[in-house]
Amino acid sequence: MFIKTQIADITFDNCLMNAAGVYCMTKEELEQIVASQAATFVTKTATLQSRPGNPEPRYRDVGLNSINSMGLPNLGLDYYLDLLTNDPHQEQRFLSISPMNADDTPTLFSKIKQHDFKGFVELNLSCPNIPGKAQIAYDFDQTQRILDQVFDLYQGKLGVKLPPYFDQAHFDQMASILNQYPLTFINSINSLGNGIMIDDLSMMIAPKQGFGGIGGPCIKPWALANVHAFYQRLKPEIQIIGTGGVTCGRDVFEHILCGASMVQVGTLLHQKGPQVFERLIQELKDEMATYGYQTLADFKGKVQYL
Ligand SMILES: Cc1cc2nc3c(=O)[nH]c(=O)nc-3n(C[C@H](O)[C@H](O)[C@H](O)COP(=O)(O)O)c2cc1C
Repeated sequence: MFIKTQIADITFDNCLMNAAGVYCMTKEELEQIVASQAATFVTKTATLQSRPGNPEPRYRDVGLNSINSMGLPNLGLDYYLDLLTNDPHQEQRFLSISPMNADDTPTLFSKIKQHDFKGFVELNLSCPNIPGKAQIAYDFDQTQRILDQVFDLYQGKLGVKLPPYFDQAHFDQMASILNQYPLTFINSINSLGNGIMIDDLSMMIAPKQGFGGIGGPCIKPWALANVHAFYQRLKPEIQIIGTGGVTCGRDVFEHILCGASMVQVGTLLHQKGPQVFERLIQELKDEMATYGYQTLADFKGKVQYL
């Protein structure tokens, strides 16, 4: 049974990797992903300058789900670029980045070009946890302006990390924007922004008066919906990374059935550690065996309608 997958011209041994923000802040954490059964990794979202992020407590597990308002703590773009450009497998790696303002974008991309990074860039347009800043990709005009700017500056392999959309009209609008660019991939979805979870009489996390991004199995219906909505709408050369709600191999299977070429794991990885990939891969293979599928292509995007 083959669970190899491909994004652009790069083949991966399997379709699983970490989601940005989980096990990817430091070289040591990333080494644990490399040592695991995951096919590759994405870095923590890097900003031009390093950031301490939001005040603690800023992450809580709530059963199998999570709430976080990390606020993009990271070691700065140079740290991740140095690490990646010394990685013999850099062509398979994903660098997540986010501009903090419009002026950052040219500098971010000129640094990536200076370092001659050969992997994938995941442009995060969807962080819900920066106090005072909106999620960029909920503003369609701003998204278009950023993509115009980015593709003037950069011709490498680039994708965007999107927030969840909840309306068919928004799927249509965003897809018609994305289809105008030579994107390599999109990644759906970031956490469901601005939820609250309460413990006794208090919010569970401190930043933004308790409002934070939700991850884990409770977001899976929207993750699958976004993956499938974009699978139906995007030109076929834009591939889809499915993220959100994975707790078992069946969830990975469903992301692929909805059209994902690769699947990322956030909350579950945070809770269980990188050895969880071994179980997910075995369970995915078991699920494929149940249906007699030999390869991911046998069922990718082939969810049936009643
Ligand atoms: C602790 C934590 C930190 C995160 N940091 C980032 C980040 O830096 N960049 C990003 O694009 N997404 C970030 N995310 C969102 C995840 O990548 C993922 O999209 C989301 O958690 C949904 O997946 P899940 O249901 O598997 O958790 C973070 C999530 C968590 C739980």
